[in-house]
Amino acid sequence: MDEFAEQVVNALNDLTGRHEGHRAAHAKGTLMAGTFTPSGAGLTTAAHMSGDPVPVTARFSNGSGNPHAADYAQEGRGMAVKWYLPDGSRTDVVTIDQPCFFARTPEDFLEFARARKPDPETGEPDMAKVGAYLGEHPEALPNIQHFLSSTPPESYVTCAYNSLHSFRWTDPDGTSRWVRYRFEPEAGESRLDAEEAKSRGREYLQEDIVTRAGAAFRMLVVIAEEGDPIDDPTAEWPAERERVEVGRLELTGPETGREKDGDVLVFDPVRVTDGIETSDDPILLFRSRAYRTSVGRRSAPAEQKAAVEP
Ligand code: HEM
Repeated sequence: MDEFAEQVVNALNDLTGRHEGHRAAHAKGTLMAGTFTPSGAGLTTAAHMSGDPVPVTARFSNGSGNPHAADYAQEGRGMAVKWYLPDGSRTDVVTIDQPCFFARTPEDFLEFARARKPDPETGEPDMAKVGAYLGEHPEALPNIQHFLSSTPPESYVTCAYNSLHSFRWTDPDGTSRWVRYRFEPEAGESRLDAEEAKSRGREYLQEDIVTRAGAAFRMLVVIAEEGDPIDDPTAEWPAERERVEVGRLELTGPETGREKDGDVLVFDPVRVTDGIETSDDPILLFRSRAYRTSVGRRSAPAEQKAAVEP
């Protein structure tokens, strides 16, 4: 058992309650099928980035660990993508609609989650503890400010999503570059004010996404320059960094083939493929451990299967 990952997942459960059978974070979401068409930018030898279109599964989600939370709640939104590669393997990318993260290390993630634990009597976190944490961790503030100032999206397909972590892409000539991923919606970015979002109902994002066949995202890589932090997801890179479009992800309709009859679907951000490597970012590397723990819990009888299957 991974004791530290258990502690982190317990701390996530303490924020929103433990909900059997559901993810410990991003518990509410909807699966869509899609097709990824690479633009052939030539920046990596990875199988899905050149040649024929590749089928994908995309899961759109709200950040909370409560699967019953209303879609209009103030939360981050996620887009997780799994490519089904021609050789039968898979590769995943897991992104959110924020430009940076709030923690630089798993230990900080745990400390901040514990600081936000709601008081059992009031149901509210102790703001003195939250303030004390933030006072000592100014690197968390850009994420918190972004989070507090963002309103619910009109649709999951009107958000831009970022990987935050960096990956090393190696091209056919052997040249390597550090990149971060970004999905930009062809529909444009659009958000609702809080009242309008509420008027659309508790399930408006889930109801909307299943009608969005044909909606698409441009996948971009943002290329690092010398000195850009590649192991720190709290640090945004300068806005002027070169961006290259590497493909187009089009939704084709609701995904009906996954997460039923015991199928365990796991999006793991360190599941890369030849031509792409992870950085040493401690948050990125730890996510795999936390997700595995969450997956083990939500699929208890299938735990062995979940540990090895995509
Ligand atoms: C130490 C940091 C983090 C921890 C402990 C953590 C924890 C978790 C856990 C436990 C899950 C549920 C996994 C499952 O049951 O399959 C999850 C899902 C998710 N996380 Fe994280 N996370 C972290 C960082 C991040 C970051 C940096 C991002 C975005 C770049 C992110 C985006 C997501 C998304 C989009 C999902 C939903 C994936 C899906 O649809 O299956 N997380 N996270």
